[in-house]
Formats: sequence, C-alpha cells, structure tokens
Amino acid sequence: MLTDDVARVLIDEETIVQRVRALGAQVSADYRDRDLLLLCILKGGIVFLSDLMRCIEIPHGIEFMAISSYGAATDSSGIVRIVMDLEGSILDRDVLLVEDIVDTGNTLSYVKSILQTRGPRSLKICSLLNKPDRREVPLEIDYVGFDIPNEFVVGYGLDFAEKYRNLRFIGVLKPEMYTKPD
Ligand code: IMP
Ligand code: MG
Repeated sequence: MLTDDVARVLIDEETIVQRVRALGAQVSADYRDRDLLLLCILKGGIVFLSDLMRCIEIPHGIEFMAISSYGAATDSSGIVRIVMDLEGSILDRDVLLVEDIVDTGNTLSYVKSILQTRGPRSLKICSLLNKPDRREVPLEIDYVGFDIPNEFVVGYGLDFAEKYRNLRFIGVLKPEMYTKPD
C-alpha cells in the first residue's frame, strides 16, 4: 500500500476539506461579478483544482498549463520550461493560478512574468501549500491553504517521482523512499 511509505501525516483529509471550502468561499466573494479563470498548473494542482472549483459558487472557466523545472527530484533549479501552454486567451480576464505548492518560488514567478505579458485584467495566485523558509525569489501569494515547514511532502496532487498524487492527505515520506528504487 502507498500509505505504508508515509512516515507521518502532516495535514489530514478533513483539515484539507475544511480549508479548501474556506478558500472557495473567499474566492467566490472576491471574484463576484468578475471574469474568473482558474488556471491550474499541471500536474500537481489537479487535485486541488477539482476540489476548489466545486467550492466556488460563481461562474468561472478552467484552463491548464504544464510546467517542468529541471533539477534534482526533490529540488527545483530555477530553470523552468512550459511543457504545455493554455488553450485560450487570458486578455482582460481575472486569472487565478491554482498550484499545489510554492517552494523556492521560481516556478510561479516565471509563469507569472510570462502570463503578465498576455494582458490579463488581474493575475493572482492560489496555492494549497507554501514553504516560506525555502523562498529564493520574492513572490506574493494571494491565497494560501497552509504554510508548512521545510519538508518534502506528497499526496493530494503532490508527487515524488510521479507517485503518491492520489493520497487523500498530505504526508511526509519515510526517508528510505527517497533512495529506494521502485
Ligand atoms: P518552486 O519552483 O521551487 O516554487 O517549486 C514548485 C514546484 O516544485 C511545485 O509545483 C512542485 O511540483 C515541486 N515541489 C516543491 N516542493 C515539493 C514538495 O514538498 N513535494 C512535492 N513537490 C514539491
Ligand atoms: Mg507543481
């Protein structure tokens, strides 16, 4: 079982559900009468997006963008590449980036700078998790689910080597999982 690889649950399922519900209510209030577009950063943001959008009570669109960052498996290098761009235009739209986690901040600061050139009416960030201690570039996060300590976490969309995205909670892996081959 995947759960056997987990040393410790950091944020349990019920806590996530409650927090996502609160974020959805906040977004619904803040974007009333706006042209809201949720732009999910693949793959990690997918679970958060699917729950968050069902907690948002106002009409909105969804789009996807895939980013890849080079570097070691548990560390982002700051070199970021668009693997899949979004389909539609964001001109004059109120774009809310939906991301799993902000770590160094490199990924989202790059994505933000690219999107900014495409003329959105507004461009904000909603991240389920935030590791403030790891920040390398300044980045304003408008909606944060949870600030977490500097530990590598998996579950609820977050992976290690493409595994564990389907866990319903956020957990810390057993140290041997980072070294052991499949
Ligand atoms: P940043 O560019 O350093 O902010 O990193 C952002 C990306 O690194 C996230 O979207 C994740 O894909 C990945 N990442 C950072 N920390 C973790 C973690 O603790 N678990 C899983 N993925 C992580
Ligand atoms: Mg990610």
